[in-house]
Amino acid sequence: MSSSIEEGIITPKGDMVSYTSYLKVHELLDLQKPLSSPPEHDEMLFIIIHQSYELWFKQILHELDLAELDLKNNNAFGALKTLKRITTIQNILTQQVSILETMTPNDFNLFRSRLNPASGFQSHQFRVLEFRMGLKDKNFLKFFQTAPDGKMAMEKALAAPCFYDHLMGFMARRGYDIPGSILSRDVTTEWTPSQAVEDVFTTIYQNHTSHYEAYWLLESLCDLDQQFTLWRYRHVAMVERMIGARIGTGGSSGVKYLTATLQKRFFPEIWSLRGRLGSATPYGKQ
Ligand code: HEM
Repeated sequence: MSSSIEEGIITPKGDMVSYTSYLKVHELLDLQKPLSSPPEHDEMLFIIIHQSYELWFKQILHELDLAELDLKNNNAFGALKTLKRITTIQNILTQQVSILETMTPNDFNLFRSRLNPASGFQSHQFRVLEFRMGLKDKNFLKFFQTAPDGKMAMEKALAAPCFYDHLMGFMARRGYDIPGSILSRDVTTEWTPSQAVEDVFTTIYQNHTSHYEAYWLLESLCDLDQQFTLWRYRHVAMVERMIGARIGTGGSSGVKYLTATLQKRFFPEIWSLRGRLGSATPYGKQ
C-alpha cells in the first residue's frame, strides 16, 4: 500500500527549527493547570478559553501599536488595514463566548469556588485596551497591587496618548479644524466628549463623498467600538446564564455591574453625530 506522505516532506533533524520548537508547543501545552480535585472535566475548557482571550488581547494591543504608528506617519491606508484586522479578531472573541456556554451552570459550579477571588476583572490587558481607547479610569489600578507587571503596563497606557489623540493629530495634519485645546489636552486623563470634534465629524459624514478617507477611518473606529460593546453584551448574557444574580468571584455585583458597563463608548462623538444626520423630523429638530 502506497504511503500518503509525499517523499519531499522534510523530517526535522538535530537543532533545525521546527514547528514545535518555534511555537514553544511543549511550554504552551504545559500552561493549563486545573485546580479542581478530583478533576472536573470542564475546568480545562475554562482555562483554555481564558488563555486564548489573553493571547488575542496581546495581538490586538500589538496591532494597535501599528495603527497608531500609521496615523503618526499619515498613512491612513495602513491604519485602515490594521483596524480591519483588529475588528476581525474582535468578531472571533465575541463568537467564542458560545463555546463556553456548552458548559452548564452545574458543571461550572463544580469548580467555581476554586477560582475565588480570581476574576476577569483582573485582566490587565483588557484594562490596557480600555485605557488605550481613552477610557482611562485610574480607579482600576488598585486591583493590581499584587500584579506589578500588569500595573506597570496599565500605568504606561495611562501616561501615553490614547488612540483618539493620535487620530486628532492625524486629522489636524490633514487640515481638519481640530481645536488647539484638544491637540494639547492632558493625555493622561480620560477622553471627554467634545462638541467641536462632533461638529468636524458631522461635516465629514454629511459630505462623505468628499471626505472618503476620514469617513472610512471613523467608520472603522465605529466598528471597533461596536465590536467591543457586542463582546460586553455577549459576556454579560453568558454570565447571567451561568450565575444568575450572584456576586462575581472578583467581588462585584456581577450582572448588575457588567450591565452598567454596556454604556461605555470609546469614541462618543462617532456615535452622537448620527443623531444630526438626515433631515429634521416633521416636528422640528430633536
Ligand atoms: C463562566 C464564565 C464567566 C463568568 C461566570 C464570568 C463572570 C464575570 C463577572 C461576574 C464579572 C464581574 C467582575 C467580578 O465580580 O468578578 C466579570 C468580569 C470580567 N470578565 Fe468574566 N466571566 C466569565 C468568563 C469570562 C471570559 C471567558 C472572559 C475572557 C477574557 C472574561 C473576561 C472578563 C473581563 C475582562 C471582565 C471585566 C469587565 C469589566 O470590568 O468591564 N470573563 N466576569
